[in-house]
Amino acid sequence: MLERGIVMNAAIQNMLERRSIRKYRPDQISDEDLNIILEAGLYAPNAGGRQSPIFVVCRNAEINAALGKINKAAFHGRMSTENAYISKEQPSIADDADIASGFYGAPVVITLFASENFLYSEADCCVAAQNIMLAAHSLGIGSCMVARAWDTFSSELGRRLQEEWDIDKGMEAKIHVILGYADSARPSAKPRKGNRVRVVN
Ligand SMILES: Cc1cc2nc3c(=O)[nH]c(=O)nc-3n(C[C@H](O)[C@H](O)[C@H](O)COP(=O)(O)O)c2cc1C
Repeated sequence: MLERGIVMNAAIQNMLERRSIRKYRPDQISDEDLNIILEAGLYAPNAGGRQSPIFVVCRNAEINAALGKINKAAFHGRMSTENAYISKEQPSIADDADIASGFYGAPVVITLFASENFLYSEADCCVAAQNIMLAAHSLGIGSCMVARAWDTFSSELGRRLQEEWDIDKGMEAKIHVILGYADSARPSAKPRKGNRVRVVN
């Protein structure tokens, strides 16, 4: 779209420029920025207007490292090849088996939980995650959505933390969003695949 010279407003530019960040500086983001980001998440669309997802923010480096290891161990997907990879600039755990944590050392890990018995829990958590990531990017803070939240919180440590943090047993971890300041330049986007849009009049 940029190439076609369309003048974009700031919100659309923010959407096009956000990239998944997997290399983080250890410094924390401020409470003020975190609160703005979470507020954006709370205003995401939500099925039935139920506002069912809850956001559990963990800034404890030790806990994030332990959960990140569990998250990585739960990855049984296909490893990348020379021709099929996720990111060369900011490799994911599928690109580089030596990465120790599924949370990439990010100083903030938000886990979105929603009811285990609601058809739209995943969708609710994913749209909230997108609001969180776009708000973060608009404030100069990097982010990445990370899967396997259920595996992470169904581990022994995850179950213990869920109880300690007083999260109802009926709430299931659906997705993580990690946040922090990027440790290197923003990666470029892969070229968009063609033929993904049909407009029917
Ligand atoms: C549902 C979902 C799950 C994802 N899970 C992971 C993940 O577990 N680990 C990871 O490094 N990136 C994960 N990502 C990020 C994608 O790899 C990333 O969005 C994709 O490669 C496109 O790159 P971009 O976000 O920079 O545009 C996930 C994204 C989505 C939407």
